[in-house]
Amino acid sequence: MNGGPARIELNEVGPRDGLQIEPNFVATEDKIALVDALSDCGFARIEVTSFTSARAIPALADAEAVMQRIRRRPGVIYTCLVPNLRGMERAFEGGADELNLVMSVSETHNRANLRMTREQSTAQLLAMLERAHQAGVPCNVSLSTAFGCPFEGEVAPAEVERLACLFAGAGAAGITLCDTTGMAYPTQVAQLCDSLAQRLGDALPLTLHLHNTRGMALANALAGWQAGIRRFDGAVGGLGGCPYAPGASGNVNSEELAHMFACMGVETGVALSPLLDVVGALPRLVGRALQNQLLAAGPRLRTHPAPDWLDERFGKSQA
Ligand code: COA
Ligand code: ZN
Repeated sequence: MNGGPARIELNEVGPRDGLQIEPNFVATEDKIALVDALSDCGFARIEVTSFTSARAIPALADAEAVMQRIRRRPGVIYTCLVPNLRGMERAFEGGADELNLVMSVSETHNRANLRMTREQSTAQLLAMLERAHQAGVPCNVSLSTAFGCPFEGEVAPAEVERLACLFAGAGAAGITLCDTTGMAYPTQVAQLCDSLAQRLGDALPLTLHLHNTRGMALANALAGWQAGIRRFDGAVGGLGGCPYAPGASGNVNSEELAHMFACMGVETGVALSPLLDVVGALPRLVGRALQNQLLAAGPRLRTHPAPDWLDERFGKSQA
């Protein structure tokens, strides 16, 4: 599938995927200020936090306080990641508009990350989908390690498809394919997105959640878009990573996604200028230096004054 509407949805997952792995605890007030600033950038969704065990993810132990005090901008969907029924009840209390359920396609990563077998996680997710249906809260299901597992290597596309179809049939509002440790490559992304879209049909949106661990995230996003994907997760400043995946590193930068698609004439709703302001404030927020190519270079049409000596040598430029 190529072409289609020149409009996509960008989901900002930095406050959850980004902050969960930061070495310094980000103060609750600063988390709230980050979400509030991101709310003004035009994202379709913001993944605010996760309702996980505080022992597993200490960085997000203040999920209740954050959800309670963020400013809700109309039109933005505020979502939270939940790994089990207990987390789901906490997220309902917190007033999440939508939930992001998670399990891994590979057994070893599921055990390391969620301390459950895939069979246990599957049962948990099916029970959660039923509970969420009663509560009237839509649930997206994120499938981690969909393009490769840092413990097991290749992951069978048939297994991704099996789980996606199972949760689609059980009422998931969308499926996210997660490249947890940046193992995906463009032709693989295109093939999996294509075959899955055929299995699931147009009614169920697919999202790509990419990490830039090996520098292929933007190429993978482009391949996904060319295969018909219209929703992408990204993290401001390229923060992010799963603490239970060895070698994990940042998500695809939201600002690079927004910039690339804007250059291509694809409408994202995201305004680059306020987003780059948020990027510029991140080092203070996370307490460490961050490199950022787009912030350093500016958008592609940022131009520079020509050297003075050009006029002397060539006369006043008519350009
Ligand atoms: N929220 C808060 N606390 C929770 C919880 C939740 N959703 N689920 C379990 N707990 C608590 C239990 O009450 C228990 O507390 P205690 O030690 O004070 O008695 C403790 O966590 C362990 O509970 P248990 O059911 O044995 O869980 P576990 O140790 O097997 O861990 C998960 C299972 C899913 C809770 C945990 O692995 C987890 O939170 N993982 C999230 C990983 C993640 O977010 N990764 C990155 C994103 S992909
Ligand atoms: Zn991630």
